[in-house]
Amino acid sequence: MNAKHEALKSIEEQIEMCRLCGLCEGRTNTVPGTGSFDSEIMFIGEGPGKDEDLQGKPFVGAAGKFLTVLIESIGLSRNDVFITNVVKCRPPGNRDPEQIEVNTCWRYLEAQISLIKPKLIVTLGRHSMQRFLPGLRISEAHGKAKRIKGIWSEKQVIFPMYHPAAALYNPALRQVMLADMTKIPVLLKKIEI
Ligand code: URA
Repeated sequence: MNAKHEALKSIEEQIEMCRLCGLCEGRTNTVPGTGSFDSEIMFIGEGPGKDEDLQGKPFVGAAGKFLTVLIESIGLSRNDVFITNVVKCRPPGNRDPEQIEVNTCWRYLEAQISLIKPKLIVTLGRHSMQRFLPGLRISEAHGKAKRIKGIWSEKQVIFPMYHPAAALYNPALRQVMLADMTKIPVLLKKIEI
């Protein structure tokens, strides 16, 4: 294991022991993230649900199945990308994560981003987008890459997408999300950091 991988493993251990916010009270497992530590792309969702809490892995339930379809639609597998959430423990009853919880957990996501150094951050859903692009509306911002002053790069590219769970309730969004995904390979080729 190289130093970067060791540092990322050590973040996982810190998350496992974390008791910095109330979400630790109800968790079965922490959900630090899965996939490649050397990926150019990071997918960032909101927070673990029931299945994720039970398995300790992100996006393994119904929404996760569709995320897998999306990733595979551009010729990649889940092992090629890194998948995580803005909060690493399940909010009770799948409620939205509170601002204080997102802020408290930010240290872990920040450390993961600064070590993985993704070319592209794909935010899944409103809560994840808000952390990087405050004030935007997902209905207008989805599928459009934006540059921000990022954690490891002055020119971090953020690509907001709807949350895959939204496509389960509103099947029309499936096509919108599949169309947004097709832009990712083109973007990756264009991004120079
Ligand atoms: N929804 C999320 O935002 N993240 C998960 O890991 C699962 C469902």
